[in-house]
Amino acid sequence: MTNSEPFDAMNLFDLADELRDRVSQGETVTEATLEEISVDYSLPISDVYASLAMCPEVSLSTGYPTTVKVCVGRCQFSGGAGLLRGLLELRKAKDYKIGVLPTPCLDRCDDAPVMSSQGKSGSYCHPKVDMAGLEELIEAIM
Ligand code: FES
Repeated sequence: MTNSEPFDAMNLFDLADELRDRVSQGETVTEATLEEISVDYSLPISDVYASLAMCPEVSLSTGYPTTVKVCVGRCQFSGGAGLLRGLLELRKAKDYKIGVLPTPCLDRCDDAPVMSSQGKSGSYCHPKVDMAGLEELIEAIM
């Protein structure tokens, strides 16, 4: 069962500062960078991803044909945090070749948890994502 608690704001601020510092020093932020920061701070990788939503100046290029954006703005209090954690766990377990990007809002605030996807099959918004159907949903958009 994935933890659905919202993220710790102080952790996200620290992680966002770390990301900004790296970018200001000319570093390109990759998924490996996020893994490294997770280890350095002894915090879950989902926290590091979530902090990206606080750093519009930091771009994460995954290179995958399909990218999923998960709202961790206000939606994190209504399942968005659990959705991001669950999606990252599922991607790792299934070795899905999809990019995962957090975002502060997808303009569907009454439909949390919400995510959007862009890929070969088109661009979609996925409101009220049901964790039980997440695997099927991801396989349909890849
Ligand atoms: S805060 Fe999540 S869609 Fe707006």
